[in-house]
Amino acid sequence: HKSIVIAIDGPAGAGKSTVSKRLAHELGLHYLDTGAMYRALALKADRAGLDPADGAGVAALMEDTTIDFGDGEPQRVLLDGEDVTDAIRTLKAGELASAISTQTPVRRALVVRQQALVAKGGVILEGRDATTVIAPHADVKVYLTASLEERAKRRTTEMVNKGMEPSFEDVRSQIENRDHRDITRDDSPLTVAPDAHLVESAGLTVDQVVAAIKALLPNE
Ligand code: C5P
Repeated sequence: HKSIVIAIDGPAGAGKSTVSKRLAHELGLHYLDTGAMYRALALKADRAGLDPADGAGVAALMEDTTIDFGDGEPQRVLLDGEDVTDAIRTLKAGELASAISTQTPVRRALVVRQQALVAKGGVILEGRDATTVIAPHADVKVYLTASLEERAKRRTTEMVNKGMEPSFEDVRSQIENRDHRDITRDDSPLTVAPDAHLVESAGLTVDQVVAAIKALLPNE
């Protein structure tokens, strides 16, 4: 599977990151977290005092911005060389990422970078438009989902494990708002690609979801 491209989309908290990292590790693929790029750019825009609705202004920041991925668990995210791995995981950063992601100039600027990272193959990428816009010709496309309650529970636990103190209600309503925005935006809305395999993660362990996706891979 050296040059394979696997693309996974789905709503917030469906387990895309966990499952993608596991698959990347087991299959020897690069892992591309496209949401981290929206989060990192949103953080930079916020620090620069930009309005998230200023699509052209936020997109222009990308002209002299580097977003790199390092090793480790969690995978390190470097914004202009600064380690922002933790800073991009707050509720606020998620909110800002969601806000800038509705802007077409922002999406164009990030999709170009993402496609360059996917071009060589040997990658598993996840996001909201991985199967539809970034890698519509991926070898395997998956839409990973679960109920809102289930996803909110998972996200809350994740954040608590990272030392944050989110309320379940806040996490749930944030996920609900973000999903709504991701699904209803004009540019690259979250949708199930016609040739995507629907994988329902509710009631399944990570191992079981990983196995279900592995079963979709073409024979070598
Ligand atoms: O996946 P994650 O929660 O880190 O993504 C943060 C936000 O970035 C999402 O809510 C979504 O609005 C946006 N996003 C996007 N397209 C992607 C990845 C993320 O619009 N490919």
